[in-house]
Amino acid sequence: MEIKKVGVLGCGLMGSGIAQTAATAGFDVVVREVSDELCERGFTGIEKSLAKFAEKGTITAEQQAQIRGRLKGTTKFEELSDCDIIVEAIIENLETKRDTYARLDGLCKPETIFASNTSSLSITEMMTATSRERQRRFVGLHFFNPVPFMKLVEVVRTILTDEEVYETAVEFGRKLGKVPVRAEDKSGFIVNRLLVPYLLDAIRALEEGVGSIVDIDNGMKLGCGHPMGPLTLLDFVGLDTTYYIAEIMFDEFRERRFAPPPLLKRMVMAGLYGRKSGRGFYDYADAKNPVPTNLV
Ligand code: 3HC
Repeated sequence: MEIKKVGVLGCGLMGSGIAQTAATAGFDVVVREVSDELCERGFTGIEKSLAKFAEKGTITAEQQAQIRGRLKGTTKFEELSDCDIIVEAIIENLETKRDTYARLDGLCKPETIFASNTSSLSITEMMTATSRERQRRFVGLHFFNPVPFMKLVEVVRTILTDEEVYETAVEFGRKLGKVPVRAEDKSGFIVNRLLVPYLLDAIRALEEGVGSIVDIDNGMKLGCGHPMGPLTLLDFVGLDTTYYIAEIMFDEFRERRFAPPPLLKRMVMAGLYGRKSGRGFYDYADAKNPVPTNLV
């Protein structure tokens, strides 16, 4: 089966990145948001990102216009009915996702593949909101932030995913310019299974006074060649998001390594979400020169 038209649900950070990447790869893309305002906000981000790529010469001005021309925003689910694949990147709430899938199942053509960008929720649990036939056409496509830069996509199958559908999804990931890795539907898949305990351990190291914020970050950045230290990465991903993922993974595996440390919980309760709220392990009042937050 050939994918030509892509539907994206949600035009937030991940949805807009996925839409931009699909349009850059030559696909026609329709993005659905709940309001015109959120749609416009997402498209402003895409336009800024494309302008930056054009400025740097990664794409020409002509390509920039062509990519933008392949992207369409809407608030109507109906406009996604003829898409060959739908990638969902809406709020990480199981009930909202299940309601959305159930609604789309009745609108989309029988061949449409449903894919979720969830980072930790169960694909199987989402899939069961749809008809038996659709359940065979359901996968996970987990992208990484910032989507236009990060080369990986995790392609997740459930015990019911049809083999041909799965291979089509893997190939779609490749056509997006990503390296697809195959994963089973187990909470966190491959990357978060390894990344989340590492991030939580960095917080525990800080709690236990092993090192300062800057020294823990420099340790991993300069000692192991990571592009960002773990506490910088936590601010980048969002402390609220990490807390939420950790809770789901702890609930699934009941292993201490997935349990959110008290400091993380307190920072989330205090509204220190990281970059998005202006403060986390670092203070972003001057975004170009973040300074470590005094947490004691
Ligand atoms: N579009 C266009 N340009 C962009 C952009 C975007 N979306 N985002 C950043 N840029 C630009 C920057 O503005 C900057 O431009 P400038 O040189 O003119 O200032 C340029 O790209 C390079 O940015 P940086 O200077 O920040 O360059 P880096 O070399 O540090 O690269 C990075 C940035 C790719 C984010 C790198 O730091 C990195 O790889 N960090 C780790 C990210 C990571 O681990 N992501 C995964 C998170 S986990 C996840 O998503 C899963 C979830 O389930 C939790």
